[in-house]
Amino acid sequence: MSAAEEAPAASARPARGARTAADRLAPPMDLAALIGDPDTRIVVCCGSGGVGKTTTSAALALAAAEAGRRVVVLTIDPARRLAQSLGLVELDNEPRPVDVPGAAGELHAMMLDMKRTFDDIVVAHSTPERAEQILANPFYQTLSSSFAGTQEYMAMEKLGQLRSGDQWDLIVVDTPPSRSALDFLDAPNRMSRFLDGTMIRLLIAPSRAGFRFASAGFLFFSRIISKVLGGQLLRDISAFVTALDTMFGGFRERATATYELLRRPGTWFVVVATPEPDALREASYFVDRLSAERMPLAGLVLNRTHPPASTALSATRAEAAAEAIGDDGGDPAGALAAGALRVHAERMTLATREQRLADRFTSAHPEVAMRTVPAAAGDVHDLDGLRVMAEALTGPDGDTPTGVPRTRVLPARRA
Ligand SMILES: Nc1ncnc2c1ncn2[C@@H]1O[C@H](COP(=O)(O)OP(=O)(O)OP(=O)(O)O)[C@@H](O)[C@H]1O
Ligand SMILES: [Mg+2]
Repeated sequence: MSAAEEAPAASARPARGARTAADRLAPPMDLAALIGDPDTRIVVCCGSGGVGKTTTSAALALAAAEAGRRVVVLTIDPARRLAQSLGLVELDNEPRPVDVPGAAGELHAMMLDMKRTFDDIVVAHSTPERAEQILANPFYQTLSSSFAGTQEYMAMEKLGQLRSGDQWDLIVVDTPPSRSALDFLDAPNRMSRFLDGTMIRLLIAPSRAGFRFASAGFLFFSRIISKVLGGQLLRDISAFVTALDTMFGGFRERATATYELLRRPGTWFVVVATPEPDALREASYFVDRLSAERMPLAGLVLNRTHPPASTALSATRAEAAAEAIGDDGGDPAGALAAGALRVHAERMTLATREQRLADRFTSAHPEVAMRTVPAAAGDVHDLDGLRVMAEALTGPDGDTPTGVPRTRVLPARRA
């Protein structure tokens, strides 16, 4: 049984036995019910780079605020697209209210400032004198601003802080722009392991770490390392680790506690992908991982799809009709019709390709609910654009003329 099936019942899950004729279709994802449910407290949007995580997070947060909830969206968006789309001039490390005219609830947004979050932890967990030493340490400065995984660790840290205050009905979490969606889950652990690591302790201070009787071979090794890395860098690291000594347990404990938070009822993951092989492969890894970790998956948002205006005419027939009309006979109306048919044929070919990719995902993960979001004409850069996206995510499924929820890009072709 998958973790998702074990998770507490929520409207995002398809009812058992409800899929009959539509058995090969991905089950629908009712995001409106999910974000409106008072029991839903955290929604995490994950996915590989550039698929629309930040936009989806903002759109879901907006929809939840409009549905009456007090929402904060935590975004990790160095490109500041969220700030732009929400009309915020400046976002800092604290939630700021967003003006959403007519909303029954409240929308607040914050952008994670990785270094500030890290600095705040140091200040909160050490004496002023020691904090000053740590903040000024070159190794700390590198670690806090550019070490791989710091962003993910800090996102979890901030999520823990937001959740502990109990001030928010719903926290929507965007995840950092990493190549792999899994980094969000892996990086915090990797980083606390690094900070807590025996290797680093051994290298910088064998005696302090309790290895007074380190072998001659090891001391030789550490001297070589010192030569390669430079004595100053090692001294920086050493000073940093000494100063952080009291915090080691804290880092690891908090990373673990937040990780647990992600497993608790009330947390849902939404995986975002575009209909492209790489993005769907990443989504697939992520879905498997969530299931292995028993973390609750709401489903997959297939973003930026290209549904054709009509599916009545296949690409082949449209192409043949365009051929039959011909566009060089000097008849402007005929040329126009042939052009329109060719555009339609291209859209059908693209949609068919997207459908095939979606089908492949669904046959590998038949239990994963799916919602498709068509590509907007341009970028999503304002509140209106987010509303359109929110409607596509949470509104009634436009492809359900018969009332049978359907999430396919094209109508089912198979019996
Ligand atoms: N459905 C859509 N239609 C049109 N444009 C979209 C859609 N969804 C997202 N975009 C645009 O795609 C771009 C990337 O989106 P977004 O920043 O949300 O992706 P991301 O996954 O957060 O990227 P990163 O991994 O860099 O953080 C943005 O310019 C956004 O406006
Ligand atoms: Mg982003």
